[in-house]
Amino acid sequence: MRLGGVPRRVGLLGGGVIGGGWAARFVLHGADVGLYDPDPDAPRKVGAVVAHARLAFARLVAAPLPAEGTLTFVATPEEAAAGADFVQESAPERLDVKRTLITRADAVAGPSVVIASSTSGLLPSGLQEGMVHPERLVVGHPFNPVYLLPLVEVCAGAVRSAAAIDRAVATYRAVGMRPLVLHTEIDGFVADRLLEAMWREALWLVNDGVATVSQIDDAIRFGAGLRWSSMGTFLVYRLAGGEAGMRHFMEQFGPTLQWPWTKLMDVPELTDDLLDRLVAQSDEQAGGRSIRELEALRDDCLVAVMRGLQTVGFGAGEVVDQHAQRLREAAQAFEPALAGDGVVEPGDHHVTLIWDEGHRSAFHHLWLRDNCDCSECVHPQTRERLLDTFALAPDVAPERLCADSETLTVDWTDGHRGSRYALSWLREHCSCAQCRSSRRPRHRHWGAELAAALPEIDYADVVADDVALLRFVETVWTDGVAFVRRAPTCEDALRTLATRVGHVRATNFGPEFHVEAMIEPNNVAYTSVELRPHTDLVNHEAPPGVQFLHCLVADAPGGASTLVDGFWVADRLRERAPDTFRLLCEIPVPYRFHDATHDLRWAAPVISCNDDGTYREIRFNNALMAPLELPVDLVAPTYAALAQFDAIARSAQGEVGVRLQPGDVMVFHNRRILHGRKAFDPGGGARHLLGLYVDIDEWRSTMRVLRRREEART
Ligand code: OGA
Ligand code: ZN
Ligand code: ZN
Repeated sequence: MRLGGVPRRVGLLGGGVIGGGWAARFVLHGADVGLYDPDPDAPRKVGAVVAHARLAFARLVAAPLPAEGTLTFVATPEEAAAGADFVQESAPERLDVKRTLITRADAVAGPSVVIASSTSGLLPSGLQEGMVHPERLVVGHPFNPVYLLPLVEVCAGAVRSAAAIDRAVATYRAVGMRPLVLHTEIDGFVADRLLEAMWREALWLVNDGVATVSQIDDAIRFGAGLRWSSMGTFLVYRLAGGEAGMRHFMEQFGPTLQWPWTKLMDVPELTDDLLDRLVAQSDEQAGGRSIRELEALRDDCLVAVMRGLQTVGFGAGEVVDQHAQRLREAAQAFEPALAGDGVVEPGDHHVTLIWDEGHRSAFHHLWLRDNCDCSECVHPQTRERLLDTFALAPDVAPERLCADSETLTVDWTDGHRGSRYALSWLREHCSCAQCRSSRRPRHRHWGAELAAALPEIDYADVVADDVALLRFVETVWTDGVAFVRRAPTCEDALRTLATRVGHVRATNFGPEFHVEAMIEPNNVAYTSVELRPHTDLVNHEAPPGVQFLHCLVADAPGGASTLVDGFWVADRLRERAPDTFRLLCEIPVPYRFHDATHDLRWAAPVISCNDDGTYREIRFNNALMAPLELPVDLVAPTYAALAQFDAIARSAQGEVGVRLQPGDVMVFHNRRILHGRKAFDPGGGARHLLGLYVDIDEWRSTMRVLRRREEART
């Protein structure tokens, strides 16, 4: 799928923090990016930003993104700009450097291609000098991190073209941003002037010894900063005026404008003493955390705030919400068509289809012949294959090819006639690396911010309505968890819900299990002690896929449930401790459960990945660990790695706490999400959960069948 308005090719000049952020935003929206940066280390740095952005953006929008574009590092600005549909320059803030890059791009880019500059301090008129097509230059000033923050200030210079401004605005909107068009060129534009005013005041406060660096930041982040995340200064002050509004506010505070509350133009001298103080206080504030760690923290916070705002549908939350909606619609409405009059290029051993989005798909002759689904090749009733694949001539080739707007029809050299392939089917089976990876399931990895907006759905809807059922099944698949609310508190209700999706998977604990404090427990869950985050039945070759826990009674004090996204934990480890991550992917951890009638054992690594590095499953359960079987030099590193996984899982950033009420059913992907519970006091009342499992095969099968039905309806 392509998203409307996203340029096919983007040329980026400069791959620093801002250029890397642009690369991420464009690539994630399906544009092929050519990036020029003279720094030989740029590919590594930009690669890290894109990897980071991929996770953060997916968590932010929680909607299907288009197939990712490619990122290519090129040797000259000309290579970046030639053939590009949009050019964005993000070089250091030096007029000569920027002008050189811009004029070199200007010389080769198509005349209507916009060249935007990320500058925060230089004026567009100054950047236009020396250009052949100065009217195409606009400032597109973004905010760091470019891949998360929606704002981009758009400002044209003295020579201006409304069409260029419109194109820049449309491009930024297409990648989920909120362009703000400024009609007047002014140093610092609008946003930086505001930031600058506060920054200068802040420097005075440090200079005069009034406040420290971290006191000033606290004054922002615990107060006005929170308001600013949804409303600007004017709307906030309007509210401060109460019912009487802005006029009243100005009457009250107008006179104070004469008071010495700020110094604005008068700036403190940057003496050695002031600099030393700033650096020392800033180091202390960072508390030894690296820039990478602080960036990850900042992104987590931004995602949390914007996800929260999304539930209100206001401010940046509205922008994110509308963009997510657009992404979902684009994914649904996508109908493939061939370019031109159906260009089919016969090749040596394959046929290449060229799609109107520009994408090319190559299909090997033997593969195409093997996938004929005529009634001779596929049994029309069972849909199983009749064709003897291994009797096909390895050099079988099309004798005649013809394509209309829906179908490719082929006659073959082996005499087989009239193989018909739907174009939509062919598009779905494009086997290029990009398409294969975009077909991988996309899970939204979450941390503690999930608590602000728990995925929930009504029991009655899921039971009665297939649309609600599909939404439920998809939520558990992408988010790993959903809360079904208002279920009847009788024991049949859970089975009714679960069998909407599939067969119940029985285990050694039976088809269903009662989680209660028992006199003779065979499982710590059946006591009242705390259960630290774990996945269930890790001692099986295939642990059950989805777990349902239905709360029937919750009278006991304590016993809150905990949830942690194991994929999120794996992301953190991969970023912070790659060696630990690798160890947890490699070392099989033995697990065992045994009682009077069973002795079930299996060993597997904590993290299992697919061949493209995405996660397949998480298996983590301290209570069921059997003695590690390791060479002695691996013992300590393995314990340390397991402890680190556990610590991240139980950190405030990772763990979501939820108190289940009678009628709540917590449903979660047991091979991804860790669950647990706090200790409870059985003396203070009863606690009773009913549990069961449904396997992943059933889950995904039901999801596909429901989607198929929904598509047939629309
Ligand atoms: C379990 C379990 C959680 C709870 O039974 O495996 O983790 O809330 N129970 O008691
Ligand atoms: Zn056939
Ligand atoms: Zn459990």
